[in-house]
Amino acid sequence: MGLYWAVARPLFSSLPPEAAHRLAMCIFSLPLPWERIGATPKDPALRTSLAGIELSNPVGLAAGFDKSCRHLDSLGRLGFGYVIGGTITRDPRSGNAKPRIARYPGRGSMTNAMGLPNPGAEAAARSLSRSPRSGPRLVSIADQGPDEVIATHALLEPHVDGVELNASCPNVSWGRDRDDEAHLALLMQELGARRTRPLFVKLPPFRSDVERQAVLSLARIAQDGGADGLTCSNTRPVSDRRLSVGAGGLSGRALFPDTVRIVGDVWTATAGALPINACGGVLSAADALACLDAGAATVQVYTGLIEGGPRVVRDIVRGLSEAPSGRSLAPASSPGQDGTRPGRFRRGFGATASAGERRPGPRGGPGGRPAPGGP
Ligand SMILES: Cc1cc2nc3c(=O)[nH]c(=O)nc-3n(C[C@H](O)[C@H](O)[C@H](O)COP(=O)(O)O)c2cc1C
Repeated sequence: MGLYWAVARPLFSSLPPEAAHRLAMCIFSLPLPWERIGATPKDPALRTSLAGIELSNPVGLAAGFDKSCRHLDSLGRLGFGYVIGGTITRDPRSGNAKPRIARYPGRGSMTNAMGLPNPGAEAAARSLSRSPRSGPRLVSIADQGPDEVIATHALLEPHVDGVELNASCPNVSWGRDRDDEAHLALLMQELGARRTRPLFVKLPPFRSDVERQAVLSLARIAQDGGADGLTCSNTRPVSDRRLSVGAGGLSGRALFPDTVRIVGDVWTATAGALPINACGGVLSAADALACLDAGAATVQVYTGLIEGGPRVVRDIVRGLSEAPSGRSLAPASSPGQDGTRPGRFRRGFGATASAGERRPGPRGGPGGRPAPGGP
């Protein structure tokens, strides 16, 4: 049993969730040998390009873990292929009242109603400008009013390799009364004219058919607006009386079956033309493989880092490295094993993970071709 499981995890679990997170952030500010702690192997066959951003592997850190963008270097050195800071808004936000995170012990899931607390775009830009860049990093910005988004984007884009527009936070007040489609189209138009680096759009999850139509429509708007990739998905809105606001976003294992389905649906709706970052319940290499099989170019992890500790990225990367070429390790319940979507994971797949030049996705698709290094 590693140090994390013997000492750190029991300690973190004994603290209230936000106190545990603050402690983790203090530890990530220390000059520790993060590469050795993460112990993630380097496998040239896992190298990939996400919309032109060169990654050492397709496992990213999801937005929200480092909301201040002050610890991205330490986090990246654990072995992530890329890390995402934020979500950042134009002005600082203190977020919702506490308590705003509730755990489901033993279930690998939690609910948060953070409400995007963050230091604001100017402070985040200062932190990013001062911190070393040991690997690819993105910043997540919120889908507030157009002026705020444009200003935030302008302040932060120079300090990162790409920007993820968070068009899906369930815990903020804006967006409840607006026309999401028109709003996203306007943001894409404004950002499209200004951006110099890849732009990703993080979509909400869907379960019902109505939600599905709404999200697929947003995916197409992002695509038509020139997005370089999509992230599927954010947390799922749920009620939880333990949270001050009575509801929040569910994350972790409970999301996983939806994530695989959503990635496949969005891949089909966008004809495989955009790289998709699968996010939601990826806790293991088998989870990551199922997402890649469903058409994802990369996976993003948040709750998995809390559940599995700093070596979760090593375990996922190792599992991807060891996966037999061309075969999926996906659990039987997920696409890739049901006879309709043969596993398409290929080592070395990543060289094709950018728009217009994709590895094969679900049900085959345009642009798919065997990847270099594959069988
Ligand atoms: C405490 C917490 C805070 C989060 N904050 C953000 C955020 O600021 N921006 C964002 O895009 N997603 C945020 N997320 C969502 C995650 O990025 C991710 O989409 C979601 O948790 C599903 O992935 P997971 O199952 O690996 O945790 C947050 C999640 C959690 C648990």
